[in-house]
Amino acid sequence: MTQISSTPTRVLVTGGAGYIGSHCCKALSRAGVVPVVYDNLSRGHADAVRWGPLVKGDMRDEAHLAQVLKDERIDAVIHFAAFAYVGESVQEPQMYYDNNVGGMIGLLGAMQQVGVKTLVFSSSCATYGVPECVPIDETMTQVPINPYGRSKLICEWMMEDAATAWGLNFVALRYFNAAGSDPEFELSERHDPETHLIPLALMAAQGTGAPLQVFGTDYPTPDGTCVRDYIHVSDLARAHVLALDALRGGAGPLKLNLGTGKGTSVQEILDAVERVTGHAVPHIDSPRRAGDPPELVANPSRAHEALGFEARWRQIDEIVGHAAPWFAEKPAEAPKVA
Ligand code: UFG
Repeated sequence: MTQISSTPTRVLVTGGAGYIGSHCCKALSRAGVVPVVYDNLSRGHADAVRWGPLVKGDMRDEAHLAQVLKDERIDAVIHFAAFAYVGESVQEPQMYYDNNVGGMIGLLGAMQQVGVKTLVFSSSCATYGVPECVPIDETMTQVPINPYGRSKLICEWMMEDAATAWGLNFVALRYFNAAGSDPEFELSERHDPETHLIPLALMAAQGTGAPLQVFGTDYPTPDGTCVRDYIHVSDLARAHVLALDALRGGAGPLKLNLGTGKGTSVQEILDAVERVTGHAVPHIDSPRRAGDPPELVANPSRAHEALGFEARWRQIDEIVGHAAPWFAEKPAEAPKVA
């Protein structure tokens, strides 16, 4: 990636020890930015913090955050730190509002106190709920159907209010399905528990996990299984660098979908896993999972217009291929690459 001269030199990356956050730190570093990670390590991994310092702390600790912003001479923030399991959010809603909304309260308070006014926020297509139609564009009504999606939408509202009240400038990036991992195999996807389709399908195929449950085969989609827009995590990471640069160049506030615009069904993922690993995915056709919309596909044109962003890794076999080695052993360790 080319160096972007106008980007800030020191950026606070909350949740930078997590899956998407750690990939973003690598992209920032490549662009000449020092990512200062702020993470409580409740779900992240200290060994994924490799491109700048790690400060251990909680998002709800406004005084600590303000001190870190000052001490580390931060001039912009990328905010990933949040809980992100839809199912868990339904079971434990207070936990989600406390961490995700409480975290944004702490962050905005600290940023206002110190005078840092530039923020890139990790939002989600879960804020749309069940869309009126696909592809989904940013003008569509946001009616989230679970506490996770609601917590992200509340954060978007909070940023809008902060923009009006004290001049916050922000980009909300609404991710579709983050997938794959670093093409150079320096970083992986490590969730505990793992609930996502591609890792579970890879583990089933490579004999390191149970047979995959296919949640629903009777959806109104071409093959009856759910359709999602899988976007490579390294593409997501690069979009954050572009968003930061756009804010520095005077753009914003912005709300942008991050997807490829291409839908892939669960069955098509199983086919890709078979092509990549050489093994069929042992699977069991199962009932629908509560809260799964049949089809979520982005209209990615606004991000293209605003940031010049386009996904580079567009083939599902490439995305699955970058993830595959990490799930060939259990527990996931660094894959052996030539
Ligand atoms: N699926 C299965 N079996 C599994 C796991 C998933 O069939 O064992 C299916 C799901 O039903 C869904 C698709 O695979 O149709 C993708 O499911 P994931 O769990 O991988 O991802 P989700 O689409 O549920 O969730 C992702 C992010 C969330 C985000 C959401 C937005 O993980 O953070 O997209 O819809 F909120």
